[in-house]
Amino acid sequence: MGIEKQPFGKTSAGQNVDVFILANGNGVKVKIINHGATIVSVEAPDRAGNFADVVLGFDDMAGYQSAGNPYFGATCGRYANRIAKGRFSVDGVEYQLAINNGVNALHGGLLGFDKKLWDAEIVGENAVKMSLTSPDGEEGYPGTLTVVVLFSLTDANELRIEYTARTDRKTILNLTNHSYFNLAGGGTHYDHLMMINADRYTVVDDTAIPTGELRAVAGTEMDFRSPTPLGKNIDRAGAGYDHNYCINQSAAGELTLAAKVLDPASGRTLECWTTAPGVQLYAGNFLDNVKGKGGAVYNWREGFCLETQHYPDSPNQPDFPSTELASGETYTQTCIYTFGVAQ
Ligand code: GLA
Repeated sequence: MGIEKQPFGKTSAGQNVDVFILANGNGVKVKIINHGATIVSVEAPDRAGNFADVVLGFDDMAGYQSAGNPYFGATCGRYANRIAKGRFSVDGVEYQLAINNGVNALHGGLLGFDKKLWDAEIVGENAVKMSLTSPDGEEGYPGTLTVVVLFSLTDANELRIEYTARTDRKTILNLTNHSYFNLAGGGTHYDHLMMINADRYTVVDDTAIPTGELRAVAGTEMDFRSPTPLGKNIDRAGAGYDHNYCINQSAAGELTLAAKVLDPASGRTLECWTTAPGVQLYAGNFLDNVKGKGGAVYNWREGFCLETQHYPDSPNQPDFPSTELASGETYTQTCIYTFGVAQ
């Protein structure tokens, strides 16, 4: 039980990266590195008490810094998900971000938070606090931003991720964690039973930018209101699931169950709770021969992400919940991943 810090490796620039190992009384173990404030492993038990690593990742910094790293476990920002053509305005001033995903900006840019070395400090019994200052104008975003991500592991097997941020000038912000899960510990995720607490999702154009329409999931391949195998209708969802669901919140900012997943074979379950209005179900459509941890090779649809977030491209969609942060305000979001077992 408790938390331990160990050297993990070095960045290509020679900086030391540490790994923080959080363990609870049930044997659950979570490893987080301060490069990208990245979750690198989560060991969780099945119904027989056998532990498996249920997140995708790499063994070393070479893997995390490789061009083929699809944001495994990372903290994404400043703006997780997409901004149309990388353009947005704050108080009438237009800003241009790098275009790094087709014609759009994705996950904070060329050197997003996932590629930064964060300051890290052990706090309390089972928590690590990672912090970063992003200078005014970095990656094209306005305002000097200070971000803190607090990771903690409880005896209820909750991995809590608590974000806070402040700016000295009005800006936009949307932080998420980009863990890829596989509750079986490997193989396709098709048998995982997925429940998503959302009646609607954001319809997107062919560059994955919302059109503004929030469409009912009822009776469509997008409907996960009751537990449904992830693979059942996946081929009817374009290239596969990569969509933002509008979580059924009873009040803005209320911690709400976004999704619950069960791997029937192992009995492992994952609950995802969030204060954010949306969750991106990304079902690993772009995974292709990624050489991962312990000799594992990750292929198409062998991991899924539940990225808690504001809706994509919110800065350009006046009807979506606002992602603006003014100076003097504090941004707060909480995401909780809870690992359980069903008999
Ligand atoms: C997000 C996006 C996906 C993909 C992954 C990274 O989840 O929505 O389209 O870019 O990140 O591969």
